[in-house]
Amino acid sequence: MRVNGRAYRTIWRTPDGAIAFIDQRFLPHRFLIEEVRTVEALADAIREMHIRGAIALGAAAAYGMELAAASASDADLPTALARAAELLKQTRPTAVNIAWAVDSILKAVAGAQSAEELRHRLRTAVDALVEGEVERCRRIGEHGAALLETLAQRKATAPLQILTHCNAGWLGCVDYGTALAPVYVAADRGIPLHVWVSETRPRNQGAALTAWELQQHGVPYTVVVDSACGHLLQQGMVDVALVGADRITRRGDTANKIGTYPKALLCRAHGVPFYVAAPSSSFDPTLTNGTDIPLEERSPEEVHTASGLHGDRFVTVRITPDGARAWNPSFDVTPAELITGFLTEYGLFPATAEGVEDLLATAHVYP
Ligand code: MRU
Repeated sequence: MRVNGRAYRTIWRTPDGAIAFIDQRFLPHRFLIEEVRTVEALADAIREMHIRGAIALGAAAAYGMELAAASASDADLPTALARAAELLKQTRPTAVNIAWAVDSILKAVAGAQSAEELRHRLRTAVDALVEGEVERCRRIGEHGAALLETLAQRKATAPLQILTHCNAGWLGCVDYGTALAPVYVAADRGIPLHVWVSETRPRNQGAALTAWELQQHGVPYTVVVDSACGHLLQQGMVDVALVGADRITRRGDTANKIGTYPKALLCRAHGVPFYVAAPSSSFDPTLTNGTDIPLEERSPEEVHTASGLHGDRFVTVRITPDGARAWNPSFDVTPAELITGFLTEYGLFPATAEGVEDLLATAHVYP
């Protein structure tokens, strides 16, 4: 993706072996790149959401395994990788992409006959995983644009009204995005569209990140507070909802950023299609029911406060009264029954056990 005309990914390896990424905490106001050289520093960056979004987290975890190997002696390699795998898996619990990436790398290096072979296999596997995710997102964009084009034809010349939540754009991936990938392709093809961006309290990934991405790409959008979405749907101002996913079970139950489930309910109530865009790496074949998905709870401080730019300084201000209690569940689960379909790198699949089974039989991303 382009930032001020220059091509970027969210995360990459530098020529001298560090891992660099866009520090998303300061967007949209500052575009800062952070570099880390240890798996511990990368794990901290994941936990504190310098880098975030399920697909970007998977790539970060893969790069984390590479950093762990780089700082280990040949004799310590297996122990260092096992320790790094545990550390990375514990950073954020909901996005299955982290465990998927770590397990894929471990599988790729298993049985290596020498440290040299292991290091070689590891780097090859990291590159294949990252490039694979980029390509899967690119393909989601192509399939999704065809879907948006069909929906847009029903609107004649009026813009197609798309509702999204959180940030499932290229910042949440390595490139292209999941839910936003089709929006970019459709916009590039000249399909008239407009995106309703729900702010996504408390971290404001919609208001800060999605709005910034759409603006960079020249896509018309409007930010609304999360609680405006019922009104939007009731007024007939949304034609389709498109969101990402952090983990999808075998029956199609889908964990995504808190606030996704009420949007799915609203869409059902108002007869609006609700699509989840995700590559096959976001499907968890080990779980069937959404109730078994581990859901992250973050610090109540995120609810008590809001952060942003004041003049030229970043400030955090307190919202709640001193002594107030707050709870900060960060993800919710949308039952499969509320999802119109899964938009994947292989096209559209029904949000049913059979649909997920078909996808998993087609895809070969699981170790
Ligand atoms: O807490 P975050 O910002 O990592 O949550 C991100 C989401 O919920 C996204 O919708 C999801 O990861 C989509 S993948 C681009």
